[in-house]
Amino acid sequence: MTTTMTFPEPEVEALRGGPRLRWGVIGPGEIANDFTTTLHAHSDQRVVAVGSRSPERAAAFAARHGVPAAHGSYEALVADPTVDVVYIASPHPQHLEHALLAVAAGKHVLVEKPMTTSAADTRALAAAARAAGVLAMEAMWTRYLPGTTVLARLLADGVLGDVRLATVDVGWPHRPDPADRMFDPVAGGGALLDAGVYGHWFARFATGAPVTSSTTGTVSDRGVDLQSVTVSTATGSAQAVVSTSMTAWTPGLAVVAGSRATVRYTDHFVFPASFALHHGADAHVWEERSGLRGRAGLVWQAAALARYVSDGRTESPVHSLDDAIGVAAALDAARAALDGGAGRPDGASPSVPERDTSTP
Ligand SMILES: NC(=O)c1ccc[n+]([C@@H]2O[C@H](COP(=O)([O-])OP(=O)(O)OC[C@H]3O[C@@H](n4cnc5c(N)ncnc54)[C@H](OP(=O)(O)O)[C@@H]3O)[C@@H](O)[C@H]2O)c1
Repeated sequence: MTTTMTFPEPEVEALRGGPRLRWGVIGPGEIANDFTTTLHAHSDQRVVAVGSRSPERAAAFAARHGVPAAHGSYEALVADPTVDVVYIASPHPQHLEHALLAVAAGKHVLVEKPMTTSAADTRALAAAARAAGVLAMEAMWTRYLPGTTVLARLLADGVLGDVRLATVDVGWPHRPDPADRMFDPVAGGGALLDAGVYGHWFARFATGAPVTSSTTGTVSDRGVDLQSVTVSTATGSAQAVVSTSMTAWTPGLAVVAGSRATVRYTDHFVFPASFALHHGADAHVWEERSGLRGRAGLVWQAAALARYVSDGRTESPVHSLDDAIGVAAALDAARAALDGGAGRPDGASPSVPERDTSTP
C-alpha cells in the first residue's frame, strides 16, 4: 500500500540570496556548457571568466553565456583576479594538471568527476589543496541534490535501521568509435571512470568504506572496461553490488536495504526525482519539488560550495577529499581486477582485497 509520511526537508543551500562566488571555467566543452547554463538560470552564482586552449573557443563560450572575460589559456584564467573558484571541466586525465594550476594560483576548485583517474593522483591533489588552504571538491553533484540529502538524513537518523545491502547500477551505451575518448585508455576511457564513479560513490555513501571487493567484467581489445560488477563488503559488514556498463542502458534504480526499512529508487539515482521508503508492505513516496531536472541539478553543488567557502571550509562536509580518494581507490581496485583477467572469456577476476587507505 502506498501511503504518505512526512519526510525530512532537503538539506540544500538556497540557490538565491546566499553567498555568491565568481566562477572561472577551464575546458569549455559539454558539461561546462550545462553547468554555466544552470548556474545563470537558477542561482546567484556567476561565471565571470572562461579559459580555453583556443582564444576562439573561449570567446564563443563567453558570448553564448554572457561571460565577461575570455582567456586563450588556462594559465591566464587562473591568474584572473576576478575569479574566486575554478570549475575544472576538462577530460578526467587532465583534471589533476588543471586543478593543480588553479590551486597554485590560490583559487578554490570544483573538479568534475572523477576528480582524477587514480587514488594516488587524488591524494596528490588533496595534499596540494590542503597545503594551499583552498577548498577542493569533487563535483559529485548527485550528493548535493535534494533527494540525496533526504536519503542521507534517513540514513543518519537510523530510519532504515542497520544498512545491510546496497545495490546500484549505472550505465549508458556508447557506439563503438575508436576516436571517442570513451574507448581510448590514454584518454581515461571505460565505464568505471565515466558512469561507474557514481555507482562506487553511492555504495560508499550507503554502506560505508569498502574493506574487501571483487570485480568481474569485460574489457575491450584496447583494455578499456566495457562492463563490470563489483561486490564489496564495508567496515560495518554491509555489502554493496555495483554494476556499470558502457554497452547498455541500465535503469539506475538503486536500493538500500536496512534491518528496519528499505529505500527503492523509482527514478535514476544519479538525478532522482522520487524514491520509495518501504516498511514491510507500506511504501512511502518522496518526490522532488524543486522542478530542477537532469543536469539543471548541477547548480546545487555550486550553491553548496559557495556556502562552504563563506563558512571558511576547505572541504565538503558531505563528500570530503578522503571520500573522493576512497571512491578513486574503489575504481582502481575494480580496474585492476579486470586487468587481472576478468575480461578474458575464460577468466573470472581474482578477489582483490582493497584497503581503503583514505580511512584513518
Ligand atoms: N557531471 C556530469 O553530469 C558530467 C557529464 C559529462 C561529463 N562530465 C565530466 O566532465 C569532464 C568533461 O567532459 P565533457 O563531456 O564536457 O568533455 P568535452 O565536451 O570533451 O569538453 C572538455 C573540454 O576540455 C578541454 N580540454 C583540455 N584538455 C583536453 C584534451 N586533452 N582533450 C580534449 N579536451 C581537452 C577542451 O576545451 P578547450 O580545448 O577549448 O580548452 C574541451 O572542450 C569529464 O571528466 C567528464 O567525466 C560530467
